[in-house]
Amino acid sequence: MRVEVADAFPDADVLAIPVGPNGIAAGGDVHGAARIAAEEDVAAKAGRTAVLYAEEPSKRFVLVGLGPADELDADGVRTAAASVAGATERVGGTLAWVLDDSLPTEEQARAVVDGLILGTYDPGSWKTSADHEHPFERLVFVGGDASLAESASRAATIAVGANRARDLSNMGANILTPEKLAQRASEIAGEHEHLTAEALEPDEFTELGMGAFAGVAQGSHNPARMIVMRYEPPAAQGDVVLGLVGKAVTFDTGGISIKKALYMEDMKGDMSGGGAVVESMGVLAELGVPQRTLAVVGATENAVGGGAFRPGDILTAMNGKTIEITNTDAEGRLVLADALQYARTLGATHIVDFATLTGAMNSAMGDVYAGVMGNDDAWRDQIVAAGEASGDHAWPWPMHRRYRALIDSAFADMKNSSVRGQAGPIYAASFLQEFVGEGPWAHVDVAGTAFFTWGRPDYLTQKGGTGYGVRLIAELATNLSA
Ligand code: BES
Ligand code: MN
Ligand code: ZN
Repeated sequence: MRVEVADAFPDADVLAIPVGPNGIAAGGDVHGAARIAAEEDVAAKAGRTAVLYAEEPSKRFVLVGLGPADELDADGVRTAAASVAGATERVGGTLAWVLDDSLPTEEQARAVVDGLILGTYDPGSWKTSADHEHPFERLVFVGGDASLAESASRAATIAVGANRARDLSNMGANILTPEKLAQRASEIAGEHEHLTAEALEPDEFTELGMGAFAGVAQGSHNPARMIVMRYEPPAAQGDVVLGLVGKAVTFDTGGISIKKALYMEDMKGDMSGGGAVVESMGVLAELGVPQRTLAVVGATENAVGGGAFRPGDILTAMNGKTIEITNTDAEGRLVLADALQYARTLGATHIVDFATLTGAMNSAMGDVYAGVMGNDDAWRDQIVAAGEASGDHAWPWPMHRRYRALIDSAFADMKNSSVRGQAGPIYAASFLQEFVGEGPWAHVDVAGTAFFTWGRPDYLTQKGGTGYGVRLIAELATNLSA
C-alpha cells in the first residue's frame, strides 16, 4: 500500500470521513455528510459506519465513528479504519482519509494504516474457495503534514510483517514444521543485505549441551531447529545488541502430560512468539533500523510417543543447571532456557523474549494485554512503553525472589512446574531467570494475545494468529537506536 499526503481531496475510489467527538473533520461536510452522521449517530461507536454511494469525486463516501471523547484513542482509529475497509471491500483502489483534530496526526495516520492492513487480514488461506480481497493499493491522507507519509509507510511495512507472522501462526503443524520455520528465516535473510540466518540441527544443539531444548524435541518425528538470525546494520552505533528470543513450539500436545482435546487445535499457535521474532527481523532490515539485533528462536514440536521425555526425567540445560521434569506440558520454559542462554553467549546485551508460555496469563489478562516481567525494571518498562506506543498492549508484572521457592526440587536444581495453582506466569518467569545470564532481560508472556481462539471486537476480529510482537519489536528497536 502506497501512502501519500495531499492538502485537497484527491481522486479516490473511497473517501473516508471520520466523525469524532467534535463532529466531522474540517472540509469533510460534503454530500450532506454532517446531517447523515447525526441521523445515523455514527460518532457513538468506534467503527460505526454510514456508506454513501456517489459518482463524483469518489464512488463511496464512508462516514466512520471514532467513538466518544472518553474512549478516543489509537485503537479506536484502528477499529474505524478496519471497519471502512470492511464496508468497501469490493471497491479497492485508492482510499482518501481525512485527518481530523481528534488525536495527533502522526498517531492517527499510523493507526489508520494498522487498521487497514491488520483489519483486512484473511486467515482462510486454506479454503479452496478463497477469494482474497486486498486492502487499498493507495492511501492518501488529507490534511496532514507531508512528513506523515514516511512514518505511515513505515507503519505499513510493520503491519505487513505482522500479517506474515499471522500466516505462520495459522499454518497447521503439518505445514509449519521446525524445519519450515528455519527455511522461512533463511528466506527472509536472503532478501536483506545485512541479515543472516542459520539453524542448528539436533546433533549440533545437543553437542552444545542444550539438554532442556533437546528433551522437549526428542518426542517428535519432525526434527527441531535452534534458529539464529543476525542483523548487523552498518549504521549501528553503541554497544547494545538487542537479543530477541522466541518460543516456537509448532504444536504443543502437552507431551506425556497430555492436554485436553477442547481447543487443542489452537496449539498450532504455540510458535507465535518465535514466529513474530523471525518476521520482525525482516521488518527491521526492511526499515533499515540502525540497531544491531540477534534473534534466537527455539523451534520444536512437543509431541507424544515412545521417544518423548517424561515426568521424572532430569535434564541438564546449556548453562549446566539441572531440571526435574514434573510436567511435560511446561515445555516452553525448557525451550527458552537454552535459547536465552544461547542468546547471551552469542553476545546479546539486552534480551526480550516472546512466548505463549502460560494458560494462566491468558486467564489473567485475556486477549488485550501481554504481561511483561524481567530482572531490570527500567528495561521491562521500555518494553511496556514500546508495546503501548505500537498497539501491542503490554502491562508490567512483578517478580520477587520469594517466588523462586516454588521451583525447588528434591532431586535437581529446580523443577519445571509447580502443583500449586499460584502465580503461574511469575513462576514461569522465575524459572527463565535462571538462564538469562548477566544483563537486562524481559519476558513477554503472549499466551492470550498472540493467537485468538475467538477474535476480538475491534480491528483484530479474525480468529488465530495476531502477529503480536512485531509492532512492539519494531518500536523498541527504533527507540533503542534513536
Ligand atoms: N503453550 C502452553 C500455554 C498456553 C495455554 C498458551 C493456552 C496459549 C493458550 C504452555 O506450554 C503450557 O502448556 N503451559 C502450562 C504450564 C503448566 C503445566 C505449569 C499451562 O499453562 O497450563
Ligand atoms: Mn505446554
Ligand atoms: Zn506450550
